[in-house]
Amino acid sequence: MQVNSSRFVLSALDPAHYPKDRFPEIAFVGRSNVGKSSLLNTLLNRKGLAKTSGTPGKTQTLNFFNINEKFYFVDLPGYGFAKVPKSMKDTWNKVMVEYLQTRSNLRMVISLVDARHEPSPLDIQMLNILDEASVPTLVVATKVDKLKRSQRNKSLNLIRETLGLPDDYHVLPFSSVEREGVKDLWQVIEDQLQAPERITDDEEA
Ligand code: GTP
Ligand code: MG
Repeated sequence: MQVNSSRFVLSALDPAHYPKDRFPEIAFVGRSNVGKSSLLNTLLNRKGLAKTSGTPGKTQTLNFFNINEKFYFVDLPGYGFAKVPKSMKDTWNKVMVEYLQTRSNLRMVISLVDARHEPSPLDIQMLNILDEASVPTLVVATKVDKLKRSQRNKSLNLIRETLGLPDDYHVLPFSSVEREGVKDLWQVIEDQLQAPERITDDEEA
């Protein structure tokens, strides 16, 4: 994918404020600190376009980025971060789940898990939500630069098995530090952008 333009458009927690122009959307989900915002910057070759932080809980709204005036990347708040007040977590979860279940512009979700850890019950729950909502999903293992080469297959297999994915499922290894996986991930996204619109009961559809 040749990225000619990428720009931040808006931040929202209220569906009434989401973009109205019906461009396809690709969303990024995963635990706080897993590397969602970093991955988005890496794909776009734009340091700091999406705000990142060593402290979990950085992204607190749905952030829409317009790419090539043709589609959006949507950076979502992370889940599973204990230090955020419960009321805030409840709001994020409600807004995110509603977005994932009803947004007809949503073409694909990139679900990120940390390559170094066994996926958590929340990761499993997220995949179940996406499965039930019939959203095409790709699981990406982040921070693979932190793994020794010899550990890599073991880690990718553990992720696949814990998430209950089929034996031939390819968990895509990714590193924002080494820019590994960029080409492969763009290929999947480009293919999915050609897919027809989802049918949901989205009132605004
Ligand atoms: P929230 O917005 O809090 O949900 O986090 P996030 O998932 O957007 O994570 P973010 O991109 O802000 O990255 C969290 C931390 O992980 C930062 O310190 C990043 O520098 C680091 N990080 C992200 N990707 C990688 C990677 O591929 N390799 C390594 N080694 N570190 C990474
Ligand atoms: Mg973030």
